[in-house]
Amino acid sequence: MRETILDLKNIRLVRDGRRILRDVTWRIAPGEHWAMIGANGSGKTTLLRVASGTLWPTGGTVSVLGHPFGTVDLRELRRRIGWVSSALAETIHRNQSALAIVLSGLRASAALYDQPTAAQTDRAEALLADLGCGAVAASRFGVCSLGEQQKILIARAMMADPELLILDEACAGLDLPAREHLLATIDALAARGGMTLVFVTHHIEEITSAFSHALLLDDGAVAAQGPTETVLAGEVLSSVLKIPIRIDRHDGRYWPRIGAAAPTDSKSEARNTKQRPNG
Ligand SMILES: Nc1ncnc2c1ncn2[C@@H]1O[C@H](COP(=O)(O)OP(=O)(O)O)[C@@H](O)[C@H]1O
Ligand SMILES: [Mg+2]
Repeated sequence: MRETILDLKNIRLVRDGRRILRDVTWRIAPGEHWAMIGANGSGKTTLLRVASGTLWPTGGTVSVLGHPFGTVDLRELRRRIGWVSSALAETIHRNQSALAIVLSGLRASAALYDQPTAAQTDRAEALLADLGCGAVAASRFGVCSLGEQQKILIARAMMADPELLILDEACAGLDLPAREHLLATIDALAARGGMTLVFVTHHIEEITSAFSHALLLDDGAVAAQGPTETVLAGEVLSSVLKIPIRIDRHDGRYWPRIGAAAPTDSKSEARNTKQRPNG
């Protein structure tokens, strides 16, 4: 059996006296794909930076792909983790061709200095075609649509053959058709196996059936985690997002309805009120 993908225990992170991550324990087993949900500033990106070895926690232990941090060369481990975000698109050289951007994934750098081999170029072209972007291979990154840019960045991450691919708000800013194309692409990657996906989103309807598990982060702490269906069951989600919300499930997707909270018992309601003395 393959090693555990991710094993975080009691992760704490304090910055400028602020507690940004609070006692986060999270384990990803092989074969699972995770969705991560949480409000802006709840610590999603920070937690994933800890998990990918670009940020050192104040406390707790991190083990990725079977290797506890502190016992391995982090640069080596980071190469096995791909990262795609809409923020990343802004750091990319917009005048380079889509193909050059994908090839730059070989060195996990934003620029391409070395001449790629014919085999590497073939592979980059195949990845682009595979992700439905074959037609824009020669186009400048800057003129590609946002949806194409995200797929180009996924192809770039895949150049390094990652075992864990983190998609941090990859759908941000996409219109509906572009979002659905990207989600279908992500689903296909998940179904293929061999690579674990972590998909960060604010939008519950973007969580497809490819995501077996979900983690709900609230102010740096885990509010809920487990099988996606359970985590999205309503009550916890409503209290974390501070809005009454009910999830309807259609065709393997989760659709939020606002103002239709799952019934809560009056006792827990009373407890919640007591915990917030200032309203
Ligand atoms: N380097 C940093 N120094 C201080 N505070 C930070 C730093 N990075 C993030 N934060 C703070 O940590 C909190 C969580 O940020 P982040 O992980 O980016 O949230 P999310 O990705 O869920 O929107 C925010 O309040 C943010 O301002
Ligand atoms: Mg973020």
